[in-house]
Amino acid sequence: MKITKICCIGAGYVGGPTMAVIAQKCPHIQVTVVDLNTDRIAAWNDEDVNNIPIYEPGLSAIVAEARGRNLFFSTEVEKAIDDAQIIFISVNTPTKTYGKGKGMAADLKYIELCARQIAKIAKDDKIVVEKSTLPVRTAEAIKSILDNTGNHVQFQILSNPEFLAEGTAVEDLLNPDRILIGGDPSVEGQNAVQALVDVYSNWVAPEKILTTNLWSSELSKLTANAFLAQRISSINALSELCEKTGANINEVAKAIGMDSRIGPKFLKASVGFGGSCFQKDILNLVYIAKSYGLTAVADYWEQVIIMNDHQKKRFSNNVVQTLYNTVADKKIAFLGWAFKKDTNDTRESAAIFVADDLINEQAQIAVYDPKVSHKKVLADLDYLETRSTEKNAKAISSFESPYDACKEAHAIAILTEWDEFVGYDWQKIYDNMQKPAFVFDGRNILNKVELEAIGFVYQAVGS
Ligand code: NAD
Ligand code: UDX
Repeated sequence: MKITKICCIGAGYVGGPTMAVIAQKCPHIQVTVVDLNTDRIAAWNDEDVNNIPIYEPGLSAIVAEARGRNLFFSTEVEKAIDDAQIIFISVNTPTKTYGKGKGMAADLKYIELCARQIAKIAKDDKIVVEKSTLPVRTAEAIKSILDNTGNHVQFQILSNPEFLAEGTAVEDLLNPDRILIGGDPSVEGQNAVQALVDVYSNWVAPEKILTTNLWSSELSKLTANAFLAQRISSINALSELCEKTGANINEVAKAIGMDSRIGPKFLKASVGFGGSCFQKDILNLVYIAKSYGLTAVADYWEQVIIMNDHQKKRFSNNVVQTLYNTVADKKIAFLGWAFKKDTNDTRESAAIFVADDLINEQAQIAVYDPKVSHKKVLADLDYLETRSTEKNAKAISSFESPYDACKEAHAIAILTEWDEFVGYDWQKIYDNMQKPAFVFDGRNILNKVELEAIGFVYQAVGS
């Protein structure tokens, strides 16, 4: 089948960048990204391409090139479904906050809504692609909904999980390590797989396009995230031991990472991993294992989350303890609120949990993040429901300048590894702080020797 029209449901951190790159690389395919969120679609269509809702290096240039040519953002979900031969489902699949599996299972209500909507609208055969990260065997449920509520047209379900990381989404999409496509073994299923392979072949080398059965594809995505997060929890667990023994976690990470069997990536000790994926996907994996009665498997992977929670807590406890066991009414400056550099995404960011702990101790938090608004900072804190919005608003403020955020602070906590933090005039920051001036570097990005020479009391993670 020659594909000329693609629709993607969900214009978020995955749907937006992924479809922008497909449109850029496949000018012969019309790509329409739809979303129920009218504000988000309006922002994607903003005349000033710098106002698109997602910050990713290189993304605005691609959107500027393809938008209006063969890339469209719209709220007309039904029309886009009707027109398309391939429909990507790229909606959110957060952890359930209610009912059975609360706090662990993936909430599939948005996925089911999409399936029902596709079934209702489709008047000709469609390929439906799971782009969202889903529990293994979700394709079975989607197929059942489509076949039982549809207009008796043929649906093929493919699993095509996305492996991009935020902050490097464009680079990851342009040069993926692999593209994974799972499909049904039938002839029709394999034809659908080939149609999607042909789309990616416009810019991805054939040896990087991997095809598998549906269940392997679905499970590989959860597994990849579990392995990546496990490396961070492993190195973070050892960072605590380093602090006790005089070993240095950066040196240990380098030493073990030079073993080609281990490799150097994803061994940076930190205040703990954040982001919308790792915690959610591991909890989901744990839930799936439990639902098959595999308690040992579930416990093994749950430990990755337990260690991450411990690492965040350890960081805030250390701030309080070091500041003479009280931070009440003390100004603590936060450099960074996003869950990692080069993104405006704050979901599950360690900064939120550290701030919450310190506000419980009656600290005053002053935030500077180059890409995160005060509105978002407040909304993130409110989402925890620890205290009222009014109390949060009194306890936390945001600044346009890092120097203002740090002015008269007792301590600075580095929560995100933004490159610009390294190049600041640290002498100027020191001069305007309360003394002793503390820096808690949750990302190990600053130079200990230089900061101590200025006069700071400097503490990193794992040394
Ligand atoms: P997101 O919340 O940024 O975007 C999802 C969008 O879907 C939202 O804008 C929402 O309004 C829209 N939506 C929900 N239901 C809809 C419906 N019925 N019709 C139309 N629009 C609807 O989420 P995201 O970060 O893009 O993640 C999407 C999926 O991709 C998740 O399953 C996630 O696990 C997976 N994923 C995310 C990343 C990442 O780095 N963020 C990476 C790989 C995979
Ligand atoms: C992750 C996966 O990397 C990606 O493949 C998947 O598609 C989505 O989930 P993302 O969450 O966007 O991507 O970013 P990632 O680079 O994995 O970072 C996640 C968190 O781990 C961040 O808070 C980051 O700061 C932290 N991290 C990462 C560390 O603390 N140490 C490291 O060595 C690497």
